[in-house]
Amino acid sequence: MTRSLLSKTMKTDILPVNGESLKRAKEIILNGGTVAFPTETVYGLGANAFDGEAVEKIYKIKGRPQDNPLIVHVHSGYDISALVDEIPDYAKTLSKKFLPGPLTMIYKSKGKVSKAVSCGLDTLAIRIPSHNGAQEFLKFVNLPVCAPSANVSKHVSPVSAEHVYADLNGRIELILDGGKSEGGIESTVLDCTGEIPVILRSGLITREQIESTVGKCGVCDMKDGAPARSPGMKYKHYSPNCSTQLFSYGEMEKAVEEYAAQSAKGVRVYIMCDSETAEKTGVENILDLGSGESEIASNLYSKLREGEDVAQLIIAIAPEKQDGVMVGVMNRLTKACKSQ
Ligand code: TXA
Ligand code: MG
Repeated sequence: MTRSLLSKTMKTDILPVNGESLKRAKEIILNGGTVAFPTETVYGLGANAFDGEAVEKIYKIKGRPQDNPLIVHVHSGYDISALVDEIPDYAKTLSKKFLPGPLTMIYKSKGKVSKAVSCGLDTLAIRIPSHNGAQEFLKFVNLPVCAPSANVSKHVSPVSAEHVYADLNGRIELILDGGKSEGGIESTVLDCTGEIPVILRSGLITREQIESTVGKCGVCDMKDGAPARSPGMKYKHYSPNCSTQLFSYGEMEKAVEEYAAQSAKGVRVYIMCDSETAEKTGVENILDLGSGESEIASNLYSKLREGEDVAQLIIAIAPEKQDGVMVGVMNRLTKACKSQ
């Protein structure tokens, strides 16, 4: 942190994405600062990927572990062959089908961006978001912008400008407001350095979608104690600032009993589940995730943040459906409800 000290009393502006705010955003990025911006998954905290000091600021602002690499974001016209090598045919096919969109692809890096982006790995994660505001911002700066989710490390990821403000007020200058991130959970992270693609983080583009496009697709399960292929997956994550418990769909009755027992003790407790399950439980305090996999993914982080404001304990009941987008939802829910 040699260029400028991070001041905790910095004024943080929230501005809609327009000509004026984009000019300001570009100026900040070119001067080695950070800007929060909307994407279709969650909000990102961006910095110029070529500028090592700017990249370091992201880790510091978030309190992010130094071994958890960042994703580089580019606009849809950006030539990624300037940054990465060895793009296999299956990756080209997947890019055509799913990009711009919530799919991050990992390739061999050409080593052009700062080493701090990939934490010394020889690979680089690239994402081309589909959100209009993200595209406008990335086109305007016309640089690879590395960005993690714009939350304090381990907290619930932000799906609105207000969520970013709640976490990073005073630590960043500018939040570009592009409304609610409709996807609601982070992009699928796909390792494209091998013979077949391998999912390192489940997300909105599902294994089923990838397999039906290019055939085989692996999934790298994070077993406790195993070395992580995607370092971010080993950490506790996405957690609200209150107690949490997670029950499987089959344990609904047990969850309701726990709700009653805790309520009787005077604990402010809420059950978080989908609309159908909510009706079956018959309890009063509900954080309703809605119906269907897209809606549940879209609401997950807003409901966790709403929950931490009203509840001392959130009891989550997992959805019955466990495939497709629900793999990503369950991954987040499990990490959010992990004990400290
Ligand atoms: O939807 C998203 O992907 C959001 C928005 C802002 O684009 N970004 C996001 O970034 O979720 P972050 O930093 O919260 O998560 C990045 C994930 C981590 O699990 C990290 O370990 C993994 O991507 N990752 C990044 N570069 C990698 C690499 N070279 N090899 C393996 N994993 C990598
Ligand atoms: Mg994150």
